[in-house]
Amino acid sequence: MAYTREYFQVAADFLRTKTDLVPETGVVLGSCLGPFAREIEDPVTVDYADIPRFLLSTVASHAGKLIFGTVAGKRVVCMSGRFHSYEGYTFEELVVPVRVLKLLGVKTLVLTNAAGGVNTDYRPGDVMVIRDHIKLNGPSPLRGPNAEDFGPRFFDMSRAYTPRLRALALDCAKGFPLRVHEGTYMFFPGPQFETPAEIRAARALGADAVGMSTVTEALAAAHCGLPLLALSVITNMAAGVLDRPLSGEEVDETAERIAGPFSDYMKAVIAAIEV
Ligand code: HPA
Repeated sequence: MAYTREYFQVAADFLRTKTDLVPETGVVLGSCLGPFAREIEDPVTVDYADIPRFLLSTVASHAGKLIFGTVAGKRVVCMSGRFHSYEGYTFEELVVPVRVLKLLGVKTLVLTNAAGGVNTDYRPGDVMVIRDHIKLNGPSPLRGPNAEDFGPRFFDMSRAYTPRLRALALDCAKGFPLRVHEGTYMFFPGPQFETPAEIRAARALGADAVGMSTVTEALAAAHCGLPLLALSVITNMAAGVLDRPLSGEEVDETAERIAGPFSDYMKAVIAAIEV
């Protein structure tokens, strides 16, 4: 598949027929962080299934809707539900949503996810602003013929998580009942949670949290020069940190518990972003 500008323009042109709103900020909501979507005013909702050349969410806690509207007076487009390699998508396919958002005109991308805490100072319910990532599993989503319209063949990752946006997110945390850290996210492909030995290895490599998403989108954003902020909600301590098995229910419970304060925090962050 040639993932050129023309290929994605079909999806962007279709979405232009649904709304005149030109979003300034694109937001991707992670597992169970969907309640933020209720904060969107004057929403125009489009099902992923109706968007040509888009992908489909297969995970129960991901709604599979693109929502245009405003949050704190800012024009946003929000992906309620994202795509992961564990659903069977190839890494190359995972560039699709970011490139469509880029063609819709977004100037900043905000990614959110649920993650396991590797840093033993972290607690479930904490938030981590991603400073950098480690991805040793699986190929790059930018593998294959380079889409020159989006970015160069070889591209820098040293400032992929935009320093100015990281500073803004840490600054906005003041006044919210949330512990907000800054740290390194390590990608694991899932769908199984990691083993305790993998988590010890992740910690030795410098990871503070682990998860199964975000990094693929961050790579697509860096390739096309899109300023990026990525926030992890620590929904559980990673495998082996506590002497008990992990479950998807634990992840869902923490995400539900934190959804209210996290939505308020996200709103403040989006309000503060200057494009
Ligand atoms: N590991 C990977 N992904 C996750 C976790 C975890 O512990 N928690 C939430 N998403």
